[in-house]
Amino acid sequence: MEIKLEKAETLKEKPDSSTLGFGKIFTDYMFMMDWNIDKGWYNQRIVPFANISLHPASTVLHYGSEIFEGLKAYRRKDGKVQLFRPIENIRRMNRSAERLCLPQIPEDMAMEILTTFVRLEQDWTPDAEGTSLYLRPFMFGNDETLGVHAVHNATYVIIASPVGSYYKEGINPVKIMIEDEDVRAVRGGTGYAKCGGNYAASNRAGERAEKKGYSQVLWLDGVERKYIEEVGAMNVMFMIGDEIVTPMLSGSILPGITRMSCLEVLRKEGYKVSERLLSIDELADAMKNGTLKEAWGCGTAAVVSPIGELCYKDVKYTVNNGEIGKVTQHLYDTLTGIQWGKIEDTFGWTQEI
Ligand code: PLP
Ligand code: COI
Repeated sequence: MEIKLEKAETLKEKPDSSTLGFGKIFTDYMFMMDWNIDKGWYNQRIVPFANISLHPASTVLHYGSEIFEGLKAYRRKDGKVQLFRPIENIRRMNRSAERLCLPQIPEDMAMEILTTFVRLEQDWTPDAEGTSLYLRPFMFGNDETLGVHAVHNATYVIIASPVGSYYKEGINPVKIMIEDEDVRAVRGGTGYAKCGGNYAASNRAGERAEKKGYSQVLWLDGVERKYIEEVGAMNVMFMIGDEIVTPMLSGSILPGITRMSCLEVLRKEGYKVSERLLSIDELADAMKNGTLKEAWGCGTAAVVSPIGELCYKDVKYTVNNGEIGKVTQHLYDTLTGIQWGKIEDTFGWTQEI
């Protein structure tokens, strides 16, 4: 595969890495390639970061044929740049593609593209505490017709953004509202795929929660509205007594790479870990009788985000006195330690660029 490079006339000034927000600044270049049902993937190119021009009937604009990924490049103490479990993002994107009838990308090709692009843009990887270069691969269908059908043409793009923390709270505990009206996804739907539509459908509940002073919502299952699924755009974990519980992957939950990594760390260290159904009644009992010790969300953007308060049907419950718990802090330190190369990666998760 040949990746053509179209050089930018001028390069942008890099931001002060101590003042970064999330996803507002973009690097000099982006990767693009096109797909056609007869030709396969073609025209691999790295071009200056710019607007994308689309036919007004393009499938993505009408029927939401879009999937994406999110992963980070981290600047290690020794100055080198590394990725965290990128093959898992590549595999998940292919599973999302299969669900949305978008084309899959052979793993070797996807990895070569990702590493070539990150190598070119690696100077954009910030070095201030807690910062990284967020990589956003995405794919959309772009047939130029209004017919509803699996697409025959698609485009794959990677953009990159130097980022700080995702939530303004950083690693401080967030307040979460349990949502019992809207649902994020249902089994048989697209919950396990990382597709734009899932996020569009979640915004109404997110807005309602924000208006009441909450950062995110806790989603319940779409059938019985009884079982806990995810928190905002993160997976969720609870420590109830000495058991760490996370909802099992049932088709409506996104299989998070941070979730998988937390489970692997905890299991290796001998914690009692369960992937199972967890009903809101069980959680409410644990909140009332004090056995709920800790709760946290986990995802690439925030890594681990402690939950300090949960509100269910207008009753507020404080978790761990609104402070970050021991296990939550330990997971944050372990994952970020591996990601930023501060502690040894005994799992083989990191990949130097
Ligand atoms: N759940 C949802 C809905 C997400 O958008 C994300 C973020 O990517 C996650 C969970 C966490 O996944 P990961 O740990 O792979 O970032
Ligand atoms: C995450 O990485 O945890 C996310 O949820 C990404 C978000 C910006 C969609």
